Amino acid sequence: MSETFTKGMARNIYLGGGVFFFLVFLALTYHTETTFAARTNESEMSEAVVRGKLVWEQNNCIGCHSLLGEGAYFAPELGNVFDRRGGEENFDSFLHAWMKMQPLGVSGRRQMPQFNLSDRELDDLAAFLRWTSKIDTNDWPPNKEG
Ligand code: HEC
Repeated sequence: MSETFTKGMARNIYLGGGVFFFLVFLALTYHTETTFAARTNESEMSEAVVRGKLVWEQNNCIGCHSLLGEGAYFAPELGNVFDRRGGEENFDSFLHAWMKMQPLGVSGRRQMPQFNLSDRELDDLAAFLRWTSKIDTNDWPPNKEG
């Protein structure tokens, strides 16, 4: 058997590898596209959730916070704040109280501004953050405080 690595062999590895990984890429893309609706609970995306996302965007919450890892790392991740701060029982009241008491004015602690949002806007924000917390992220972030 020849010990030489020929140009032909190199070409076959290059082309074969290219085709193989392209097929893997297509299969993973297909898998993502077909499971997206279930993983994001698309059917639970109510009017309130959509309005809440608008409130989130118009007030640039992402300018300080991250949501599922995307955004700024100045303030806590909010993708799981629903689970961290009260869940089904108490998250709504937590969010209302929290938003109204800003800025806390505790020295040495990072401050969050007062946004003067209405109760309706806060209900919508709570619905948006609740919906976000239900997205199947393969258990990311691993830590509830993260
Ligand atoms: C200027 C930066 C900034 C912006 C903009 C901002 N926040 Fe914050 N937010 C903070 C900081 C800093 C904290 C942590 C404060 C603390 O622990 O005292 C915080 C904390 C929070 C918490 C509590 C998190 C927890 O784990 O208890 C919630 C909920 C929250 N913000 C929601 C929002 C929402 C909703 C918006 C948009 C309307 C927003 N924030 C915009 C800086 C910001």
